[in-house]
Amino acid sequence: MNKFTPVRSSSAARSVDEITGSRRLRRMRKADWSRRLVQENRLTVDDLIWPIFVIDGENRREEIAAMPGVYRMTLDLAVREVEHAAKLGVPAIATFPNIDLALRDQTGSHILDPDNVINRATRAIKAAVPEMGIITDAALDPFTSHGHDGILRQGIIVNDETVEQVAAAAVIQAQSGADIIAPSDMMDGRIGAIRDALDANGFQDVAIMSYATKFASAFYGPYREAVGTAGLLQGDKKTYYIDHANSDEAVREAEQDLLEGADMLMVKPGLPYLDIIRRLKDTFAMPTFAYQVSGEYSMIMAAAANGWIDGDRAMMESLLSFKRAGCDGILTYFAPKVAEMLKG
Ligand code: PBG
Repeated sequence: MNKFTPVRSSSAARSVDEITGSRRLRRMRKADWSRRLVQENRLTVDDLIWPIFVIDGENRREEIAAMPGVYRMTLDLAVREVEHAAKLGVPAIATFPNIDLALRDQTGSHILDPDNVINRATRAIKAAVPEMGIITDAALDPFTSHGHDGILRQGIIVNDETVEQVAAAAVIQAQSGADIIAPSDMMDGRIGAIRDALDANGFQDVAIMSYATKFASAFYGPYREAVGTAGLLQGDKKTYYIDHANSDEAVREAEQDLLEGADMLMVKPGLPYLDIIRRLKDTFAMPTFAYQVSGEYSMIMAAAANGWIDGDRAMMESLLSFKRAGCDGILTYFAPKVAEMLKG
């Protein structure tokens, strides 16, 4: 027996006009010109931050199997690619290193070497492309022998010792010419410590983009291949990244980082966390960014390679979704490609 009782019998069905009154929401969708006229959000080249992977050596680019179209580049090639991105109007890049295993240790001490590949990259790019904003990460993971973002002692990522190291690294990155320090490690107190260290060394104008809400996520997999931590990582990062079940906790993290002096907030990963982006934007009205992480990139590329989706359209749709959710900008591996498409 069907228990559903229609509100009206079909003989008394109302016409569409009786139901909607004079409102017809399709009216403004009828043509391209009217859709453009009422479009609420737009993606522009000014919204893009391009994360790149750098390595030592010369004239070499290495493929990253899980990230087709993304390469680790030696600095000579990276400078050329960044020049090209600048010509397209991309405002900023974010750099990540893949260093020799021999340079990685328990405390990630190589991050403090002013001549490590990240600091050399900053100097080389600043010299060649001064108009490009440079964002560096002060997290330890590419430099540790265990792939964690902090110093590991007796199975524990020790917070305060890590914060000291991260803040010292931030000063060296600023000395090399970084414009924005973006610590991705999620240690408590790192934003305040970095702000104090930068200010004490005369870098009042160097900004901090906080990876305020970084979730423990499966979407970072391909990045770990890119920076070479995939085979090193012991355990998981759940004692410092946010549980992806939580939203109030993300608000508390962002609030804490703002109190400590963050200039900009970031949500990471991106697409599965649009609700967090909207919440942070509505709550704090601060410059808010999303990191469309490696796994998000790889999913779009893999489905497109199989002919299952239109990759370019999925890319554009996902990026515009970040704007709709409240983002001021997006870190995306698609940046140069999107910049080309927006230009064309
Ligand atoms: C770690 C770090 C991660 C990413 C950048 N820095 C996550 C991780 O390895 O746990 C992810 C970036 C991406 O997936 O694109 N500090």
